[in-house]
Amino acid sequence: MKLGVCYYPEHWPQDLWAEDARRMRAMGLSLVRIGEFAWSRIEPEPGRFDWAWLDRAIDTLHAQQLGVVLCTPTATPPKWLVDAHPDMLAVDAQGRPRGFGSRRHYCFSSEAFREQSRRITREVAGRYGRHPAVVAWQTDNEYGCHDTVLSASAAAQAGFRRWLARRYGSIEALNRAWGTVFWSQEYRGFDEIDLPVLTVTEANPSHRLDWRRYASDEVVAFNREQVGILRELSPGRPVSHNFMGFFTEFNHHDVAADLDVATWDSYPLGFTQNFFLTPEEKVRWARTGHPDIPSYHHDLYRGMCLDAQGRGRWWVMEQQPGPVNWAQWNPAPLDGMVRLWTWQAFAHGAEVVSYFRWRQAPFAQEQMHSGLLRPDSALAQGAVEAAQVGAELRELAGRTGLDGLRVRAPVALVFDYDALWMSRIQPQGADYNALELSFRIYSALRGLGLDVDIVSPRAALGTYRLIVLPAQLHVADDLLQRLAQSAAQLVLAPRAGAKTAELHIPAELPPGPLGALSGVVVERVASLPPGWVETVRWADGAPATAGRWREDFELRDAQAEACFDVGRAAVARRGRVRSVAAWLDAAGWQRVLRAAAQDAGLATADLPESLRISRLGDLIVACNFSDQPVACTPAGARQPLLGNDTLAPCGVAVWKA
Ligand code: GAL
Repeated sequence: MKLGVCYYPEHWPQDLWAEDARRMRAMGLSLVRIGEFAWSRIEPEPGRFDWAWLDRAIDTLHAQQLGVVLCTPTATPPKWLVDAHPDMLAVDAQGRPRGFGSRRHYCFSSEAFREQSRRITREVAGRYGRHPAVVAWQTDNEYGCHDTVLSASAAAQAGFRRWLARRYGSIEALNRAWGTVFWSQEYRGFDEIDLPVLTVTEANPSHRLDWRRYASDEVVAFNREQVGILRELSPGRPVSHNFMGFFTEFNHHDVAADLDVATWDSYPLGFTQNFFLTPEEKVRWARTGHPDIPSYHHDLYRGMCLDAQGRGRWWVMEQQPGPVNWAQWNPAPLDGMVRLWTWQAFAHGAEVVSYFRWRQAPFAQEQMHSGLLRPDSALAQGAVEAAQVGAELRELAGRTGLDGLRVRAPVALVFDYDALWMSRIQPQGADYNALELSFRIYSALRGLGLDVDIVSPRAALGTYRLIVLPAQLHVADDLLQRLAQSAAQLVLAPRAGAKTAELHIPAELPPGPLGALSGVVVERVASLPPGWVETVRWADGAPATAGRWREDFELRDAQAEACFDVGRAAVARRGRVRSVAAWLDAAGWQRVLRAAAQDAGLATADLPESLRISRLGDLIVACNFSDQPVACTPAGARQPLLGNDTLAPCGVAVWKA
């Protein structure tokens, strides 16, 4: 468990660097990420490199025994490069090239830019790849940020045609897969196929899905080129990339397959304001962030880069240190939250938590984004709390041997990018958001005190006691086999198995290949406008509500466990498999999941919404996301290591189990 920080030496006079490094060290930080936006300083003119400043920055950090996480600078190609290759710019869905003057202004399919990416990666890795200070790498920065995965450029169109030709082999196969007989969309050759933009109304859904798959593969290929060069020129240093929150525009499992460590950028307050929470939730969690937003991503990214024992290697590369600038509203965290978020990440298995950023910049786009230091170099609240965690880690490490702990949970929640794209392309109801549903179900599991692995549909499932499919619109044969072979309790949320790989309705109707396991057939689906609420009752009379989405099940070989008031099964059960016919409220999901967990032999709790408990090896960690003290004695907690049974506001407690 290590702390780090994101640092931009190029933003500050050189005579500040040594003092900055000394203060980082004193604060208990041991890693410093640099370089991801520094291309214009590294190569001010084509082919003229200025290494002197970067040599000095790295040496200055090294002199304080700080390890450097060096980045390839490809997220910010300099002006001269864009001017030399104007067609490297991504093109938006209206056909307009995106402009220079911010960042991420490149198209993944541009061969000219791909060549530049390889060239600058080779230069940077060649110079620093074996430098003793350089301990890890980050490729680029936040692939896809600012809506940059899909590009309607000429290069993307040509690449898409080649990709389709490889995938389908013949145009007849493509016409069948896309159902192009509908509306006379039939093609005579791959070279007739455009990108699905600027169509008069909705473009063909299978066409759109393949475009997303192609664009995702382009991100994978771009990243893979950099990783290959870094591995060649900097052997032995782990290569990472910093993924984002609630972001599904490319298949992260595919990118992560080429990385050693998955990292992600955690901005709990920004995400609370910018994503799908209700207005009441945005107020309630304004200063703590929703408790399950960070851990949802910790558990997702832990499932990306697995070691030989199947345990995930992951870091938080950017941790919110105070108010940010980019959310719709940017509240300040309650005192204690920066420490709590740090401990929460460690409790889910993070190897490193690295704060973004060292000092708040008084200029340019992010001048309203806090840092550990204020612009005048005084300590901001986040720094005080980071230093506190630093001291706590030193103290605990002596007593517990914290390092090298990894998490394996008893519950698996399957996360499938391809299926999420299907649901985005055909939501069928304006507020059917599969990503939100996945998060809500995760949150219900966490409220029951359960630890969760969020896993790829290709993951080994053999060790899990409970497996949940929150948004599995398509079930591939190999996933079906692993589900059928597992002995786990299985919970299928609405729309499971609703589509084929080509995004058609399966011949046997939903849940398609899951029908034999679930014993139900979905006869009809309905999306429900806001305010439309259906009551769902279990045999003991306990009600929950459902909205947004409901399905009519025909029970072929299953019993109803709960019914809609208006009749028909809302939850159907066949042995170890439960199928849910609606978007339930939190109480409803907890009811279904508690029953499944109990059938799996897992103990459940009933936690207040602001209290979360996580197990890490033989440590138990509790986090209080509220401004009130809360009493907490988790089952199995023996020896207190940090804090005690009454958690202070925004407090953390750690016990040995
Ligand atoms: C991240 C990004 C950083 C910085 C930060 C601000 O998305 O990687 O460069 O912009 O957000 O919160």
